[in-house]
Amino acid sequence: MRTALYPGSFDPITYGHLDVLKRAKRLFDELIVAVVENPRKTSLFTAEERRELVAASLVEEGVCGVRVVTYSGLLIECARELGAVAVVRGLRATSDFDYEFQFALTNRDLASDIETVFLMTAGQYSFLSSSLVKEIGQYGGDVAKFVPACVAKALAAKFGTKRRSKGAR
Ligand code: PNS
Repeated sequence: MRTALYPGSFDPITYGHLDVLKRAKRLFDELIVAVVENPRKTSLFTAEERRELVAASLVEEGVCGVRVVTYSGLLIECARELGAVAVVRGLRATSDFDYEFQFALTNRDLASDIETVFLMTAGQYSFLSSSLVKEIGQYGGDVAKFVPACVAKALAAKFGTKRRSKGAR
C-alpha cells in the first residue's frame, strides 16, 4: 500500500489545491491531506477550520477516501508517522520552484526514503493562490470560480461580507 501525504497551509483550500489532490489520488493507493498548524504564521482560519473546509470541499467535489489531518512540527515526521512514501506538492509556475526545490532537498536530507513528488496544476489555476482568494473575499468580491461553495461561505462569514454589487462609491 503506497500512501502519499499532501501537506500545506490550505488557508483556505482552492480549486488549484483540489486539482493537484485529484491528480495525486490517481497515483497512490492512499492520499492523506495534512493541514499545518503553524503558530508562527498568521492564518485567517484556524487549523481545525482549515481541516474542516478541506473535508467539506472533498464532499462537495465528490472525492471519497481521502483522510484529512492536522500536524505541527516537521512535515517529514508527520509523513513517517502516517507511513507515507511520498510528499506531494503542487507547482503552478516557475516562481514556485526555488522554494519547493529547497524544501524538497532539505526534506530529503531529513528522510532520504520519502520522495517529494511535484504535480503541475491545470493551466487555468496557475495564477490562483489562497492569498488572492482571501483578498478578493475581504473586499466582498466573487470567489465562486476559485473555491468550493463551502469555502466561499466561510470567507463571507469570516469577513462579514456579502457580495457587493459593481460600481464605484
Ligand atoms: O501551503 P504552504 O504554506 O506552501 O505549505 C508549506 C508547508 C506547510 C507544507 C511547510 O511549510 C511545512 O510543512 N512546514 C512544517 C515545518 C517543516 O517541516 N518545515 C520544513 C523543513 S525543510
